[in-house]
Amino acid sequence: MPVVAVAMPGNGQLADALAACLGLERGAATVRRFPDGESYVRIESPVDGRGTLIVCTLDRPDDKLVPLFLLAAALREAGATSVGLVAPYLAYMRQDRRFQPGETVSARHVGAWLSQCADWLVTVDPHLHRITDLSQVCSVPSGVVHASPSVAQWIRAHVREPLLIGPDEESAQWVGAVAQHAAAPFIVLSKTRRGDRDVEVSLPDVGRWRSHTPVLVDDIVSTARTMIETVGHLRRAGLAAPVCVAVHAVFAQTAFEDLRSAGAGDIVSCDTIRHPSNRIRLAPAIAASVRALLPA
Ligand code: R5P
Repeated sequence: MPVVAVAMPGNGQLADALAACLGLERGAATVRRFPDGESYVRIESPVDGRGTLIVCTLDRPDDKLVPLFLLAAALREAGATSVGLVAPYLAYMRQDRRFQPGETVSARHVGAWLSQCADWLVTVDPHLHRITDLSQVCSVPSGVVHASPSVAQWIRAHVREPLLIGPDEESAQWVGAVAQHAAAPFIVLSKTRRGDRDVEVSLPDVGRWRSHTPVLVDDIVSTARTMIETVGHLRRAGLAAPVCVAVHAVFAQTAFEDLRSAGAGDIVSCDTIRHPSNRIRLAPAIAASVRALLPA
């Protein structure tokens, strides 16, 4: 019997694409809030004796984690033999260290919760930096999809003479991989973050790259301060309006408009979080990773 794919609200498009690619059955669930703000979930498709998966990207995670856990529990109680989780954006991975006394390493706790809820997990480029491998926070089998080949393909098709730019040391892994796939030169800048919205980026001499199109590549754009700072330096150095590419388009509050106003050129993202900037489709790559983890 085919595995049943259930979408959390807002995730239907990816669940449909995975079902079509992998021959899964689409399951139905109700997920809503009671008037008091508590979550209500109900699985409406028969899952007794079946493998299942939940599609739930985890931006704005605090509103999603409780219904996700309840839905996973409902699937098991209805007889599902396994519950996988496809979370194209994995939240909380940036709090991967105790930066100040009294903090906690949120990445470890969220990873542990998700490992209790799901039997396997597929995600796209989780923010792995001081924690170097997803298995250090998730105890269940996991698949990590790399967006770099798809990002590189988009850049090759749409950008003339690109110079790829990683705005900080953490971005080196992503920008390096994209540059390799796109056969383009790249530089990595250095960044100091003083607060959520207070970052300083330092730019080397970029005079020799004036004939190139700068392409900023980062894994996450949240407040967009990192990209805004970098765009400002590049414009002042006389380079063209940079194309800004994000794997995960979190774009908190007015970040997207702020980045536009700061002088960015095209702003493009992968479709791990639904956003008007989504231009790079990762469903086929996600499907390949899910296929490897589906129960036989
Ligand atoms: C840093 O660790 C990440 O790779 C991104 O550079 C960062 O999350 C961007 O955040 P913001 O858009 O808030 O500057």
